[in-house]
Amino acid sequence: MSYLVDIVTNLVLSVVILFISRFLWNYLRSPLKSFPGPAATSFTNIWRLQDVFRGRCDITQTALHRKHGPAVRMGPNLLSLSDPNLISQVYNTKSPWLKSDMYNVNDVVVSGVRLSNLFSSQDEKWHSTFTRPVKTLYSMSRVQDVEENMDITVNLFLDKLRERFVSTGKSCEMTDWISFFAWDAMSQATFSQDLGILEAGRDYKGFLGRSNQTLDYFASICQIPLLDMILDKNPIMRVGPPTFVWANIFSLEQLQKRYKEGNPGNKQDFLGKFLEIKEKNPELVNDNTIILWLLSNVLAGSDSTAFTMCAAIYYVLKNPNVHTKLCAELRDANLTLPARWKDIQGLKYLEAVMHETLRIHPGVGLILERVVPKGGLSLPDGRFVPEGVVVGMNPWVINKDEGIFGANTDDFIPERWLQNSDESDEVYQARFSKMKSTEFTFGAGSRACLGRYLSQLESFKLIATLFSTFDMELPSQDHEWKVINSWFVRQEDLPVRLSERKDRAVTV
Ligand code: HEM
Repeated sequence: MSYLVDIVTNLVLSVVILFISRFLWNYLRSPLKSFPGPAATSFTNIWRLQDVFRGRCDITQTALHRKHGPAVRMGPNLLSLSDPNLISQVYNTKSPWLKSDMYNVNDVVVSGVRLSNLFSSQDEKWHSTFTRPVKTLYSMSRVQDVEENMDITVNLFLDKLRERFVSTGKSCEMTDWISFFAWDAMSQATFSQDLGILEAGRDYKGFLGRSNQTLDYFASICQIPLLDMILDKNPIMRVGPPTFVWANIFSLEQLQKRYKEGNPGNKQDFLGKFLEIKEKNPELVNDNTIILWLLSNVLAGSDSTAFTMCAAIYYVLKNPNVHTKLCAELRDANLTLPARWKDIQGLKYLEAVMHETLRIHPGVGLILERVVPKGGLSLPDGRFVPEGVVVGMNPWVINKDEGIFGANTDDFIPERWLQNSDESDEVYQARFSKMKSTEFTFGAGSRACLGRYLSQLESFKLIATLFSTFDMELPSQDHEWKVINSWFVRQEDLPVRLSERKDRAVTV
């Protein structure tokens, strides 16, 4: 027995010594000792892991930058930056700084082979080879090709809201229902077929739940990517929550179905467009490439857009003045519903509301990490960051910069995007352009969001349609939702009462 106690004691001691040596090694080697930040970050990444795990690292990071200035140490080799002037350097397009190891936690292993995707790849050459053929499909003019498909899901959503909530007087948990809509809408745009989630009125396939679990894992574990080698990518036995492999399987099933059944209604969808590209470029594109592209829509496009639409609803309902102005603009526009992109583009207040939503509640809430290349980085204040250090910016921190976005950036004020009465056209245009080009919600540079305009099409249309169709209200004006930052920044507890808008006839 005492022999066993000795073994356990020695084992514990060895682990403690190993950890202390590792911390000491990190501390001695850290090139960031002179930068301010929480003390623990000079010798371990565990501090940032626990901060992300707690679910509001955006609040911590904003507070740290307000306290310490534009460069804050977040780990022995990670520096968080908040100076918007550095965006064009860190996230440049000409010679892109490489994504850090945090991203490859997002890879999946299928039959022993590690597969990257457009988001996770650290190989810029591979990335540009496979992004180039599809990039134009995601321009504002091309994403409108799938507008009809989206309208099918918008109509279904309105039907379900009427059936389940308007006619019964029950409150609608918008965080659930907007997610059901967003997943079905992205599936319609991609495969001309929804996932049946709105119809079921619940996450019956478990996609949404699994996606949350996967992102919870990704957000925390990518703070120490080595843990992923032990938990998920070890060759012996996977431990831990589901990874994105389910999305690979789902996309493959959809592709096989298209090969077998064709596209009966000849609808415009992304799968059809990807297959056309394959036909024209058989030497570059095979079925694996198609899966790679489908994954971008499925994984990156549903939740991110859902959380933006929830944020728009929440902030409009929390601000009665904004609500009144938006509804007045929509009523005067007398839109055909579902709202068409061509009819809502010129609606200035809607546009201001959506810009302000994207600014105050960016869909992504972690530091977008990049590796400082050869030659290092000279900060505007003269400090130097050597090659190999990981630097990055968090959209939640950048979007609060008062030098760019004006006063009170913690508050939801769509008017900041509009021309002031005492402002000349020229001054307004300059101010607006500066805000628009700095807003970091979709990232920047060569790895900026591919689906920005697709999500814009979907979210602008849905918000215009919902506020044109229904009178909506929170249980009380004091109601606060719950926000969870887990790479995507999701929300809970947004119950909304819906009734048919009294000041317009419904035209569908
Ligand atoms: C409001 C909705 C969305 C937000 C806030 C958002 C945000 C972002 C951000 C911040 C990045 C950059 C990540 C980085 O630099 O580390 C990104 C990348 C990406 N997004 Fe989005 N996204 C949204 C919607 C979409 C949609 C609808 C798609 C569908 C195609 C999409 C596809 C992608 C892809 C493929 C990447 C990786 C791009 C690359 O590395 O080249 N996103 N997104």
